[in-house]
Amino acid sequence: MAKDFSAMEDSNRSSNPSIHAVSDPARRVVLRGGAATALVALLAPMAGCAVSAGTAAASGPRLGFTGIPPGAGDTLVVPEGYVARAIAAWGEPIGIAGNMPAFRFDASNSAAEQAVQMGMHHDGVAFFPLAGSSSHGLIAINHEYTDDGLLHVDGFSAMNAEKVRKSQNAHGLSVYEVRRQGDDWQMVRPSRYARRFTMDTPFTLQGPAAGHPMMRTAADPAGRTVRGTLNNCASSQTPWGTYLSGEENWMGYFGHGDAIDAHQRRWGARKDGAYRWDRFDARFDAAKNPNEPNRFGWVVEVDPMDPSSTPVKRTALGRAAHEGAWVAVTRDGRAVVYSGEDARFEYIYRFVSRDRIAPGGARANRELLDHGVLSVARFDADGRGQWIPLVHGQGPLTAANGFADQGEVLIKARQASDLLGATKMDRPEWLAIDTSSGWVYCTLTNNSQRGGNNRPGVDAANPRANNTMGQIIRWKEDGDFDGAGFRWNHLLLAGDPANARAEARGNIRGDIFGCPDGIGFDPRGVLWIQTDAGASQMNQGEFRNIGNNQMLACDPATGETRRFLTAPTHSEVTGVSFTPDGRTLFISIQHPGETPGGRSDPAEPDKYSNWPDYRPGGRPRSATVVIRKKDGGLIGT
Ligand code: FEO
Ligand code: CA
Ligand code: CA
Repeated sequence: MAKDFSAMEDSNRSSNPSIHAVSDPARRVVLRGGAATALVALLAPMAGCAVSAGTAAASGPRLGFTGIPPGAGDTLVVPEGYVARAIAAWGEPIGIAGNMPAFRFDASNSAAEQAVQMGMHHDGVAFFPLAGSSSHGLIAINHEYTDDGLLHVDGFSAMNAEKVRKSQNAHGLSVYEVRRQGDDWQMVRPSRYARRFTMDTPFTLQGPAAGHPMMRTAADPAGRTVRGTLNNCASSQTPWGTYLSGEENWMGYFGHGDAIDAHQRRWGARKDGAYRWDRFDARFDAAKNPNEPNRFGWVVEVDPMDPSSTPVKRTALGRAAHEGAWVAVTRDGRAVVYSGEDARFEYIYRFVSRDRIAPGGARANRELLDHGVLSVARFDADGRGQWIPLVHGQGPLTAANGFADQGEVLIKARQASDLLGATKMDRPEWLAIDTSSGWVYCTLTNNSQRGGNNRPGVDAANPRANNTMGQIIRWKEDGDFDGAGFRWNHLLLAGDPANARAEARGNIRGDIFGCPDGIGFDPRGVLWIQTDAGASQMNQGEFRNIGNNQMLACDPATGETRRFLTAPTHSEVTGVSFTPDGRTLFISIQHPGETPGGRSDPAEPDKYSNWPDYRPGGRPRSATVVIRKKDGGLIGT
């Protein structure tokens, strides 16, 4: 998300030190001094040393396409020899037999119709093959948030219960069926797999916080069933065939009134809900239902193959502004789930399951993510790092410090991490695991408050003040994925060498970009990077040479980046999923035409973009984009 709660989400006033990382005086002096040449000289070896540190071999994957220039127009551009096509845009009927209302370009579809149509603001996406096929499968996708200026005929004015229901029904997740004929992928409708998850869908709470007193509400006195999932951002697939989705900036939907306690404040509670749901749906009035926010902020797990399955919120993975969650596997078959929290000065987590992944798919692993140890990352200045367990009774995580039990540790994972001295990061977004080398990558998208008044200063992992451009950090665990410590470095610092400000130049080798967000490896080991600069940044100021948001391919062995796709005006590129054969790539284009303020004017819905339909009187729509090579070859070659 570009104009988002995360840009406002800045609630870590804990005093746990970032000093462990700033304890390298040479680095501190150089970075704060702003000496550009010294900055590059200092950081370039960090990228270089990683080449010999165990990522893909020097003869690793090659980038075979011709890079494209930065984008400026309201078009989606891919390299010569490739074709990109939008499908499954916001409002398309999902494919439920007998209930497939067409999208109306004046936004006059009802709330009930929206509940069986594609939601808004497509984000994380994953292709699930049917019978192992690379030509037929299911797409699971997140609908992160809405632009209520586009969603309703009369926009965000005069909200009412029906409009709130439509907004709620445009959030959540979708599962839809797709099939390829030649180079043309189409939605399969009707489909017995077609499914929407909205704010009315029951989710089961599992793990140590399920049933906890802090999870109980008047509507759910057992504290074990939550209606809906909120602000689902990034996603991934598990080795056992399920879809993981992160609940990111859920707090902004709640209105707390004037009584905000310390717990709620630490999570960024606000007086009024940003979508006005709190005025028409008492569940989001946290003054009346103070425990309802505790039931959001979890990683949710969905089995797209079983349309009758009940989705689950996995509390053992901790509560956070979860961007998403990604699974690695230890040599003895346990699941290791990495997760970041996209908010300024928040944390990176790792969960190691107690049990091994069982053969038998989703049903055989229904409780796998309910038992294990959650830890938080500390990145030290010497290139080493430690995982610090969030276990009740260990260290400061005691009743005396406000943690009655393990459930409360998980519900208050931020407060626990504050006490444990975890490293405050520059907005962790997506993670990607290089299974061939064991290196784990994480985008840190930006943090304009780093080094600001009364805010944490730079540290080794987050080395730039007023960090407008972001960086990609990576680490390799000691031994296996469950190692207690790790070594780390930066793949790159994003930016433009032509910028006047040293901290905005970066050290990219190849095509430039800012604000990395989505990342993912393809079957050949190429790292794909997607960007999310804000509508008010694109093609201006420090971003003047960077252009519209984009997608690049990066050879992790050399660090070379090459621009592969440029996106329509004011959209974000997100979601990356390949068919098993590596010949089709699915991504999301989110919020084309987003206004700098974040909500469109219904009188001028196409002011900035009318992608992908370009229909007079229409409105821009988020969509899935399917990318193929015209000769049917591997994407990126
Ligand atoms: Fe939803 Fe952090 O991007
Ligand atoms: Ca983002
Ligand atoms: Ca994101």
